[in-house]
Amino acid sequence: MSAVLDLKGVTVRRGKSTILDGVDWQVNEGERWVVLGPNGAGKTTLLQILAARSHPTSGTADLLGERLGRVDVFELRPRIGFSSAALADRIPGHERVRDVVLTAAYGVTGRWQEDYEEFDEQRATDLLAAFDVADLSERHYGTLSEGERKRVQIARALMTDPEMLLLDEPAAGLDLAGREELVGALSELATDEASPVLVLVTHHVEEIPPGFTHLLLLGQGTVQAAGPIAEVLTADNLSAAFGIPLMVAHGGGRWLARAARPAAR
Ligand SMILES: Nc1ncnc2c1ncn2[C@@H]1O[C@H](COP(=O)(O)OP(=O)(O)O)[C@@H](O)[C@H]1O
Ligand SMILES: [Mg+2]
Repeated sequence: MSAVLDLKGVTVRRGKSTILDGVDWQVNEGERWVVLGPNGAGKTTLLQILAARSHPTSGTADLLGERLGRVDVFELRPRIGFSSAALADRIPGHERVRDVVLTAAYGVTGRWQEDYEEFDEQRATDLLAAFDVADLSERHYGTLSEGERKRVQIARALMTDPEMLLLDEPAAGLDLAGREELVGALSELATDEASPVLVLVTHHVEEIPPGFTHLLLLGQGTVQAAGPIAEVLTADNLSAAFGIPLMVAHGGGRWLARAARPAAR
């Protein structure tokens, strides 16, 4: 099995602070990873490297067989699907939902006068259907609910048929129904063998969709633990990463965490 992602000693410094410190991480074909950690742990910084949007200060990052620093990132980026709040903010509210997805084929937001192939049109139609937003395809993006927007953003990230899909906190800001719909859609994606390698960033264990296989626990810029979810997601590991005593439960394919306080009398 070839590594889709291979990080060795990845360190990122900004000014005097060390944001990532010696991160070693390997991801293989077919794996679905969750990156979990508290606010400020360095998750977004790590994803920026995986997305070929930023380079490590030291260490090496091999993405899809190419070493960052030696490869033309403009050739690499279309092979990597990426969805984050910062990218979503660039989508114009007046854009038709269908075009939000379609324009990803050209790496732009805002339709101008590109000539789209029938193949691209069909793929956009299929992705909108897969994320249950086909009915909304003629609507303006700005009129969608937050949950609908998140699903459109992920459809957009998949438009170039990437070999790896990176999602930075896709459930942030969703209400319970919106979150559950998103978790369901991501679970379907995770269990589809045709899907690319997935890396999902979150700070809530409740947002881990069934079908995800591996977990990297990040705390203060270092890897606290990494491996199959059931091995890594223990009360001890989670308590250490979040800095408070926590208990963890698992049922129905989902995870739950809460403070390990003694029961009230
Ligand atoms: N460009 C930057 N300059 C200085 N500090 C930064 C920069 N980017 C991020 N940080 C800091 O690095 C830490 C990790 O940030 P981030 O990767 O966004 O964490 P997370 O996504 O896990 O919340 C935070 O303390 C943040 O303030
Ligand atoms: Mg973040």
